[in-house]
Amino acid sequence: MFVSKRGTIGLDIGSRYLKLAQLNAGREGYELSLFSMMPIEKDVISDGLVINKSKLVSALKALFNQAGVKKSDVAIGLSGHSSVITKVIKVPQITEDELSLNIKYEAEQYIPFDIKDVNIDFEILGPARDEEGMMDVMLVAVKKSVMADYVDAVQQAGMNPVVVDIDCFAVGNVYEMNYGASDRRAIALVNIGACKTNISIIKNGQPVFTRDTAVGSNAHTDALERTLNVTKDAAERIKLGERADGVKPEAVAEIMERTSDEIYAEIYRSFEYFRSSAGDEEIGGIVLSGGATLISGFVSLMSERLGIPVETLEVLRKIDLPEKTGASVRDVAPMAAVAIGLAMRSAGDRQ
Ligand SMILES: Nc1ncnc2c1ncn2[C@@H]1O[C@H](COP(=O)(O)OP(=O)(O)OP(=O)(O)O)[C@@H](O)[C@H]1O
Ligand SMILES: [Mg+2]
Repeated sequence: MFVSKRGTIGLDIGSRYLKLAQLNAGREGYELSLFSMMPIEKDVISDGLVINKSKLVSALKALFNQAGVKKSDVAIGLSGHSSVITKVIKVPQITEDELSLNIKYEAEQYIPFDIKDVNIDFEILGPARDEEGMMDVMLVAVKKSVMADYVDAVQQAGMNPVVVDIDCFAVGNVYEMNYGASDRRAIALVNIGACKTNISIIKNGQPVFTRDTAVGSNAHTDALERTLNVTKDAAERIKLGERADGVKPEAVAEIMERTSDEIYAEIYRSFEYFRSSAGDEEIGGIVLSGGATLISGFVSLMSERLGIPVETLEVLRKIDLPEKTGASVRDVAPMAAVAIGLAMRSAGDRQ
């Protein structure tokens, strides 16, 4: 494992919370030297797109200020089905250099945007299991305009963006660091935020399937707002467990459960899609991260409904926590997964 000494800041620009993390080389691995989180107004970020750049710049400045960081190298993460494509594809076995020359041609059929409008990257995963002479390649395509919006906002906020990564890979890095890469079962890493869910299924330490879907815990807030006829802010507070006058806890529980069921069903659809494309491969376990994980009963209900063991990603299992960062991160650790995964990257890594 490469331990970054330069301490790149991992910056997760979520639609509900901005988070940043910084790691140092600790005694036996990493130490979390910095973690900071701040809510962001609605309609600044939506579905992985920057909707209001000047508000994002101000919010980022406030976050950096809160965290006490000055001009630093930053790794940012992108996700969302409307701007990022990640896909395991099969190509004939050739060298990495040869594939660099061909990747645009290979990628074209998988990318629903004009190839001129996307940045393309890839990683060779290894020989394809089921087809002689072919290899599996993780293809990544990001809309240039979307990436430019994020990079520009981070620069305008006074930072130096050096790495652009993909959220689900960041979660994968955190999983591998904490759990190792030896599990031979297919494990689904599922990061459920406010407006989207990043899914990646890994096997033997390699991603075999990735997908972002547009469901998240905003669905809980919306359902509470609609059904209880309260404001969005009140709905958000009720969701986080606050009691409200005239609102029965049983009614809240029922709405929460019904909405969680819709989220599980959407995730299950992605699993079915994976299974049908992977010869009925079963998913051996689900490891959850993101804010939805903190909703009371969400993890156990998911396991019950899907009939698959579900656990919360132990983001900090192998990370030392100095006292000053411990307090800020302990209670929200599942939400810190992307920022910490991004902080594991450093300038000069392949983007
Ligand atoms: N205890 C909690 N504290 C904070 N947020 C919580 C809690 N429980 C549930 N949530 C919900 O989790 C969501 C925020 O999670 P997260 O920070 O992972 O999302 P995000 O990264 O901002 O959004 P996205 O990635 O979808 O754009 C919100 O919908 C929030 O209401
Ligand atoms: Mg997120």
